[in-house]
Amino acid sequence: MLSFTAVLSLTSLACSVLQGVALEVPDERLIGWKGETHHTNGESCRDDNDNCEDWAENKECERNPAFMEKTCRLSCKVCVGPASTPQAFPMTDEGREVGQLHLNTGTLMPTIGFGTAGMGCGLSKRAVTSALKAGYRHIDTAQAHEWYCEEKVGEAIAASGIPREDLFIVTKQHPRDHGFERTKEMFQSSLTNLHTDYIDLMHLHYPQCWGTLCAGSQPSGTWRDAWRALEELYHAGQVRALGVSNFSPQELSQLLEIATVRPAVVQSHSDPLRPNWELQRMCKEEGIVFTAYSSLGTQHGFSRPNPVLNSPVIKAVGEGVSKSPAQVVLRWALDHNQVVIPRSTNPEHIKQNLQLGFSLSEADLAKIDALGS
Ligand SMILES: NC(=O)c1ccc[n+]([C@@H]2O[C@H](COP(=O)([O-])OP(=O)(O)OC[C@H]3O[C@@H](n4cnc5c(N)ncnc54)[C@H](OP(=O)(O)O)[C@@H]3O)[C@@H](O)[C@H]2O)c1
Repeated sequence: MLSFTAVLSLTSLACSVLQGVALEVPDERLIGWKGETHHTNGESCRDDNDNCEDWAENKECERNPAFMEKTCRLSCKVCVGPASTPQAFPMTDEGREVGQLHLNTGTLMPTIGFGTAGMGCGLSKRAVTSALKAGYRHIDTAQAHEWYCEEKVGEAIAASGIPREDLFIVTKQHPRDHGFERTKEMFQSSLTNLHTDYIDLMHLHYPQCWGTLCAGSQPSGTWRDAWRALEELYHAGQVRALGVSNFSPQELSQLLEIATVRPAVVQSHSDPLRPNWELQRMCKEEGIVFTAYSSLGTQHGFSRPNPVLNSPVIKAVGEGVSKSPAQVVLRWALDHNQVVIPRSTNPEHIKQNLQLGFSLSEADLAKIDALGS
């Protein structure tokens, strides 16, 4: 048997020669595939290398979780691990040590991601490049051109040179494309746009069209058809986890009744003034991770100063801990076990939003909680 480090060195060397760059993670094509599938707790789970059991015994699951999670799913027991138990968030102030949590699929998800809505194709590449340089590894995008630019996000990812295994890429299916076959077609276009052969987390963006969102192009099916297609892609290994966005508690219940692959994440609006506790409680009960969007108050409209970042309570808490209102809001959200995905085109804000390794007192958390009561 080759030792873990021997395989790492051999494959890294081979990759460097092949690609002219040093890679930190081995190329799976050079390792060989075992390909046996086991089913545990309804999840498909397998080791893709004959050395997995030995590596796991040697504690590589703890030392090299990203590689082992990908290659040795069974030996790492990632398919049977506790569903969505958030790990402690690192309390350093270095800004780069982003916490991770296990999804109910076993996949690890960084708790601080980078949002990319509303930047247009003009700013997306530069902003995502800044974010990746600052240390973000979780990037949130979507197929909806109304707000996002998957292509430019993909260009930034491809140009970054960051090993794919180190990234957590999230995208979302537009409701105009609901329908079994159409979902699969659009999924392939996301893979192309994002320069990848798998997606870490794929959401249904909305349960249905609203306003003029699908004007001139009505969907060929419902979210149920789209979900079945995503389940097929999940079983084919093209997507690691499935989720829904903007589903109400009632719609989430309907999904839980029909899903053969349980949703791993729900993405919805939450900020201190409108926290959306009911949906979060339901997610907790069901072992589903809650990702908050627009944590910094952008859903309150632009006709007045942002009521979240200008809240006197949040500002006072920030002065007490020498942090900005944005950092206080993001820390508060993490303390409520939310995953956060702040968006910024300002390099200083991009860095600041990762520097969340500080504590808020119980009294401060209670003051912020009271804003949404
Ligand atoms: N699933 C959905 O339907 C849905 C809906 C909305 C959003 N989302 C996702 O959630 C992400 C975040 O939500 P969002 O884009 O609505 O907005 P957000 O992250 O809540 O807020 C962004 C705004 O806050 C400002 N900002 C960021 N960091 C700051 C800081 N440290 N100090 C002061 N101001 C700061 C930004 O301005 P600067 O650029 O000047 O920093 C920008 O105006 C989106 O980008 C998207 O990925 C999903």
